[in-house]
Amino acid sequence: MDNTFDVIVVGSGPGGYVCAIKCAQLGLKTACVEESETLGGTCLNVGCIPSKSLLNTSEIYHKAKKEFNNIGVEASNIQLNLKKIMNNKNKSILTLTKGVEFLFKKNKIVHLKGKGSILNSNTVTVTDKKNKKNNFKAKNIVISTGSVPSSIPGIKIDEKNIVSSTGALSFDKIPKKLVVIGGGYIGLELSSVWKRLGSEVIVVEYLDHIIPGMDKDVSNEFLKILKKQGIIFKLESKVTNVNLSKENAVVKITNNKTNSNETIECDKVLVAIGRKPNIGEDVVKSGIDLDAQNKIKVNEKFQTSVKNIYAIGDVINKGPMLAHKAEDEGIAVAEIISGQAGHVNYDVIPAVIYTSPEVATVGKTEEELKKKNIDYKIGKFPFIANSRAKVINETEGFVKIIADKKTDKVLGVSIISSLAGTMIAELALAMEFGASSEDIARTCHAHPTHSEAIKEAAMAIDKGPIHF
Ligand code: NAI
Repeated sequence: MDNTFDVIVVGSGPGGYVCAIKCAQLGLKTACVEESETLGGTCLNVGCIPSKSLLNTSEIYHKAKKEFNNIGVEASNIQLNLKKIMNNKNKSILTLTKGVEFLFKKNKIVHLKGKGSILNSNTVTVTDKKNKKNNFKAKNIVISTGSVPSSIPGIKIDEKNIVSSTGALSFDKIPKKLVVIGGGYIGLELSSVWKRLGSEVIVVEYLDHIIPGMDKDVSNEFLKILKKQGIIFKLESKVTNVNLSKENAVVKITNNKTNSNETIECDKVLVAIGRKPNIGEDVVKSGIDLDAQNKIKVNEKFQTSVKNIYAIGDVINKGPMLAHKAEDEGIAVAEIISGQAGHVNYDVIPAVIYTSPEVATVGKTEEELKKKNIDYKIGKFPFIANSRAKVINETEGFVKIIADKKTDKVLGVSIISSLAGTMIAELALAMEFGASSEDIARTCHAHPTHSEAIKEAAMAIDKGPIHF
């Protein structure tokens, strides 16, 4: 094999594999290094994809048990088969990781199997499973090594009793009692899965609200909905210690406000307090500048402090740790390397929590606008007044649109709805085109759809919704 490439991408998650495909499509001779058995990184193997499979199955199970009877679908003896649920999840992972393999072959991308490390600005060393090292030359290197779960000092994740999201996606028994540390994206999605499958779930969150950074209005409503589903919350609390006995874990919790202590005995503990960039020794040695949080510093062209080494995705000091942000950066960096003008608009990156209902946001929150002294107006429309949501009993949630008071330009949107994750794309597109709320209000939306709530929320900015 010729060991010289135009681009070597290190890491094959959504940032890395998309970047490699785009580079190849743009005519660059491309290789991608991956140390895991399968391509696709955290997202496909132990993140977004398996969690969505479990969220979907657990929701169907929950509906079959709790809702079918009410609407005339009389099913009895509904049984849960966790082994089959996990097999179905594993099948989805396999299909998608094989799909990336196929795309690599189709685009003639060389898959270098092993752990990639940067030897110098033009050389990547790949160490395979047998510890054999091979050097590969590249004009450009893209670091897309993603992130790993953060842990709490003194609390060791063993992926058996104390687990990260990886362990919580593969329990072989339904936990009787699950304590989840962290009320963020991972904590709440996995709380939903195991609650629906029958666990008692207690979420311990350090702050006085869930999902930091989200519009407070939305976060409060979301908390109410999750509490109604039976998830227990200990807000303003921190876990100070977890003691493991043979079968159980004893979790010690301190309330930040009152300083009172509490212990909870449970069989599983999920640590979901955030993720940290996956930075290897090689990156440190190669002199690439990092910020205070150990993230790689990049300029507007995604160049690190070493000119021909680029970085994208969870490892960089820009934007949220989200798969679709990494994908967009992967495309932008491929375009930049091939001489085009790649660009990512960090003001319009949607974020979705795939609970039931889903929560989706894009753009600014009220709190951010207040901080920046930007005057705004709000239009809100509840799903209780949306005909489609009403006939299918999905009336929880609302659409909230925030627009600039003077110009009417849409600045931010939040949606709580069963279809929020799909609906938010319309708003992201509107914002990319610089739409005003009036533009949305005057766009014909099909009836009866959940999307009509978007039009009505836009109309509500001018105090004129029809159905509320
Ligand atoms: P997160 O940053 O979303 O939430 C972590 C939560 O833990 C925060 O609410 C924080 O206040 C709390 N916390 C931190 N230290 C704590 C402590 N000692 N005790 C109690 N609470 C504590 O992080 P999460 O959920 O682990 O997710 C990691 C990353 O993965 C996020 O950046 C997220 O964007 C991404 N992700 C995205 C998903 C999606 O797009 N649907 C799904 C899963 C993850």
